[in-house]
Amino acid sequence: MNILLLGSGGREHALALKMSQSPLCGKLFIAPGNAGTSQCGTNVNMGVSEFDKIKSFCLENGITLVVPGSEEALVNGIYDFFVQDEALKHIPVMGPSKVGAQLEGSKAFAKLFMERQGIPTAAYREFDENNYEEGVAYIKEHSLPIVLKADGLAAGKGVVITSNHDEALEEFSQMIKSAKFGDASKKVVIEQFLTGIELSVFVITDGHTYKILPEAKDYKRIGEGDLGLNTGGMGAVSPVPFADAAFMQLVEDKVIRKTIDGLSKEGIIYKGFVFFGLINVGGEPFVIEYNCRMGDPETEVVMPRLQNDLLELFVAVNEGKLSSQTIYTDPRAAATVMLVSQGYPEAYEKNKVITNIPAPTHDQIVFHAGTRHDGDKVLTNGGRVLAITSLADTLALALVHSVQTANQIEFEGKTFRRDIGYEFI
Ligand code: AMP
Ligand code: GLY
Repeated sequence: MNILLLGSGGREHALALKMSQSPLCGKLFIAPGNAGTSQCGTNVNMGVSEFDKIKSFCLENGITLVVPGSEEALVNGIYDFFVQDEALKHIPVMGPSKVGAQLEGSKAFAKLFMERQGIPTAAYREFDENNYEEGVAYIKEHSLPIVLKADGLAAGKGVVITSNHDEALEEFSQMIKSAKFGDASKKVVIEQFLTGIELSVFVITDGHTYKILPEAKDYKRIGEGDLGLNTGGMGAVSPVPFADAAFMQLVEDKVIRKTIDGLSKEGIIYKGFVFFGLINVGGEPFVIEYNCRMGDPETEVVMPRLQNDLLELFVAVNEGKLSSQTIYTDPRAAATVMLVSQGYPEAYEKNKVITNIPAPTHDQIVFHAGTRHDGDKVLTNGGRVLAITSLADTLALALVHSVQTANQIEFEGKTFRRDIGYEFI
């Protein structure tokens, strides 16, 4: 198989490495990729939503599988673009149709879907310009804290949680009246605040059957002890100790099966990953959000624990034979620690020289995120720079090994959390 993987983060390096290890892997291209993905295949200077360029590239290079890493191309309809094009329709895209990607692309779409399928989620209402005054009245009466979500994609910034009615009203006004998140906040979902501990559960599906992959927990705040600003993710662990067999059975019965059956019943074409952002409320799982792709940095702990051939799973999805597959998981614990640029998630500098990146071993891999090559140097090229994943018999040991390597790698302004997985250690 000749593969085009779209994206440039740590998730894409982890996916690229996993695919490159498969005997089914022919040529592997990554667009635009980073300094890490170039060790697994060939980077191509092309944006993930430049569909016409992607078309020419696929035809010129005999691509037989496209794997979008992030939601962007999926929400923009790359699946439909391929299916509807005579020259491209034989090339499978590992992801949902444009409608399926709305599970992530529109909070209101996801909420209505969950309501129709009886999937547990926070109580909510949606508002826009037309029922704005109703929204104001709803907020004034709402219990605190209150959660406001821009309907569309807002680069992970579209959720506001506040314990103050006036602040909620101000935010509501900014989102709808002042287009704080552009078109993404023309519609706003207001929902009940749920108290509990979060986790990320992943499945691979052909839209009818599914297989559950190792679960993970990510750490979104910049500071140790979960303090400070939200980031794309400062680290992750897998497995998640409270996600025992009993809890995962509830997740499968109340969330996963209902979601996949719902997609199938509603005729929504969906091939690829579903990421369930869940919260455990007193032992019961509730859906906080759906994503139509793998998580980042969760992929950096999930892929190293997944013992299956990922391309074999992709082939099974395309051939409708997923039910014959069994998922095998490395019993060891994985912890990934993200090295980020000083200042992230606010302004930061790029182009710092990175040194002392160790070669991979059977129990540690340094995935590249925001990096690029400059001759034989590796430079920082983003907020999140490297994800150091270690595998060990205990989570505590995996974390120690990742932190040791985090101390050893050098670049100016290097910043990281030493407490990834702290509540389980
Ligand atoms: P989302 O973009 O929907 O994942 O929301 C971002 C973060 O906000 C989540 O990871 C949660 O930590 C938090 N969050 C979202 N919705 C709720 C809710 N209903 N109750 C409590 N926390 C929430
Ligand atoms: N780590 C959360 C996400 O990928 O959305």
